[in-house]
Amino acid sequence: MYNKEQTQYLQSETTALLQQVKDNAEGINIPILRDVLRFHEYRYYILNDPLIADGEYDQLYKALEKMEAAHPEQITPDSPTQRVSKGLTKDFPKVQHLVPMLSLDNSYNAEDLVDFDRKAKELSGLAEIEYCVEPKFDGASISLIYEDDFLLRGSTRGDGVTGDDITTNIRQIRSVPLSAKFSQYGIRQIEIRGEVLMNKNNFKAYNDALEEQGLDRLANPRNAAAGSLRIKDPKEVARRNLEAFIYHVSDVTLEPKKDQPKELDTHSATLQMLWDLGFRSPAKEKRVMKNIQAVIDYCEAFEKQRDDLPYEIDGMVIKVNHLDMQEQLGMTTHHPRWAMAYKFKARQGTSKLRSVEFQVGRTGAVTPVAKIDPVSVGGVTVSSISVHNEEYIKEKNLQLGDTVLIERSGDVIPQVVKSFPELRTGEEKSIHFPTHCPVCGYPLVKLPDEAVWRCNNSNNCEAQIVERIVHFNSKDAMDIRGLGDAIVRKFYALGFLNDIPDIYRLPFDKIRQLEGFGEKSVTNLQSAIEASKKQPLHRLIYALGIRFVGETTAKVLANAINHLFDLKEYSQERLQELEDIGPKVAGSICQFFHNDQNMDLLKQLEAEGLQLKNEKKNLHTGSNLAGQTFLFTGTLNKLKRSQAEAMVEENGGSIVSGVSSKLNYLVVGEDAGSKLEKAKKINTIKIISEEEFLTMTEKGEVS
Ligand code: IVH
Repeated sequence: MYNKEQTQYLQSETTALLQQVKDNAEGINIPILRDVLRFHEYRYYILNDPLIADGEYDQLYKALEKMEAAHPEQITPDSPTQRVSKGLTKDFPKVQHLVPMLSLDNSYNAEDLVDFDRKAKELSGLAEIEYCVEPKFDGASISLIYEDDFLLRGSTRGDGVTGDDITTNIRQIRSVPLSAKFSQYGIRQIEIRGEVLMNKNNFKAYNDALEEQGLDRLANPRNAAAGSLRIKDPKEVARRNLEAFIYHVSDVTLEPKKDQPKELDTHSATLQMLWDLGFRSPAKEKRVMKNIQAVIDYCEAFEKQRDDLPYEIDGMVIKVNHLDMQEQLGMTTHHPRWAMAYKFKARQGTSKLRSVEFQVGRTGAVTPVAKIDPVSVGGVTVSSISVHNEEYIKEKNLQLGDTVLIERSGDVIPQVVKSFPELRTGEEKSIHFPTHCPVCGYPLVKLPDEAVWRCNNSNNCEAQIVERIVHFNSKDAMDIRGLGDAIVRKFYALGFLNDIPDIYRLPFDKIRQLEGFGEKSVTNLQSAIEASKKQPLHRLIYALGIRFVGETTAKVLANAINHLFDLKEYSQERLQELEDIGPKVAGSICQFFHNDQNMDLLKQLEAEGLQLKNEKKNLHTGSNLAGQTFLFTGTLNKLKRSQAEAMVEENGGSIVSGVSSKLNYLVVGEDAGSKLEKAKKINTIKIISEEEFLTMTEKGEVS
């Protein structure tokens, strides 16, 4: 897309523009600024290899916004500022695809591919056929139309003939260029196809966030991508960080009197053209081969790398490379004869739903767990699978005896994708949700805005007590090895463990006499329990299992206080001043610290010698870093950004993601830009240099 000279030119323009922005200079050239921003978007979103810091990009972007506000007549539809749309989308109008979106024929093994090759040779009468092989992206398919170099329309596949016009949402995907120089190839209008994905990291983060809010995890990144494309709020679509891969040209209209470009002779050249125009096509992953055995080898080798890729693929696609031959081979009513999908080993499986057990978690939430006939899903045997809540069971239309489709993808946790009502025999039975706690018999309640039924008998319900203790001991919490689920249950039954503080009062003399408890395991358990007393405060906060308080929030809370009891004095409003704490989380924290039983539990833990003080903060009492928030901007001279951030954390401070009233210190390096400007407007923020920061860490004071 950008050759060496262009890259060097744009990089030198970047430096000049950053300087101009810093100097508040007049007369910035808007088209150049746009080119520079597009170039950096390309480096970031297509190449994954940015040349400037995020903060520098932000400065340039803000400068463009400012320039365009002053000269609205100069705004173009493909300006980087024009992705973000204001307001909500009403309904998605239906649109007709220029060419129907067919699906691919599937193959599952080498023989299928040999067969495909044989048929293609027979049909074409050729002795040798060239194939292009590329990954089969597992997302939601889209169709894009560019006209006169501008993105005109983006739509979903729909029924293949008509789809939904989701142009506004497509514009939120940064790897989709808003304009592309198709005219260089003599193309006036083009319809291209691709796949929208949510990469594995973003999918996991998204699912974790859902879970922390008490919502269901999504089954797979494909559903996450498809669902995200249909959101009516484009800003939310932007937040989902979707990506698009483009792999097919379905229709081309040339400019008058232009000849078909040679890039449209073969599929591999088409992928290269798309790549050169700034699309994320599989140009790098594709291979061109003349021999079906080489194709098979490549497919099998790629399958081995599947888990190492940042996004999900569910197979490979083998395409006849020459487009005239594709035309000659044509289509059946369902799929092209010139292409074949090679599907990887499924991470899906079907099974029978035999029963549903209702498990009570540590917060009293009652979770239905489906027991299914054991089935191997991508190499793992699944026999038990959460079906989340009553609503989910209704939505998936699940009945006892149903055949169900299970999937394990993107995320390791298996999910029920769907049931097959068409396979019912009449013997199936509906699933009844209990009205009372299956463990303690207490009546269950459901709040109007929640999906789960809950047992509120938290201090007397065995399941909740045991789960609370298990969570307390877990690896990311107090990390007490040797006190897992089975042992906690056993000790509970024996009356050794009735609540968390009992962990520190276990009768080891009696335990030594139990079967299966050798001297070594008892000593190990004793030392693990002893060691847990020294765990840092944030782990203890997380271990308490306060609703909505995950590890991140626990760290934020620990950093803000000197002693755990300080939180009793925090109002909901004050809690919300902390990083990333909203009303729901704040409400839950307040509730916890205003409950006498909880306070009693904390006092018992303190009496047992646990660490309720913020040790870090006390260690660094001389340091102004402890409990303070920091943000770095611009280029640092002595430290790497990551080193500086680690120093903050080592000294008991924390890093925040942006300039807001929650920020205490902005550390300013060279060429600092918009963050500095923003920070200057908030007078509670202290703006310091790298040297001042270093002094602060060494001597514990700001000069
Ligand atoms: S080619 C006319 N190439 O797989 C054929 N499809 O199961 C156009 N897909 O509907 C499709 N990666 O949504 C093609 N590299 C790739 C693909 C790909 C994923 C999807 C596409 C298609 C489905 C067929």
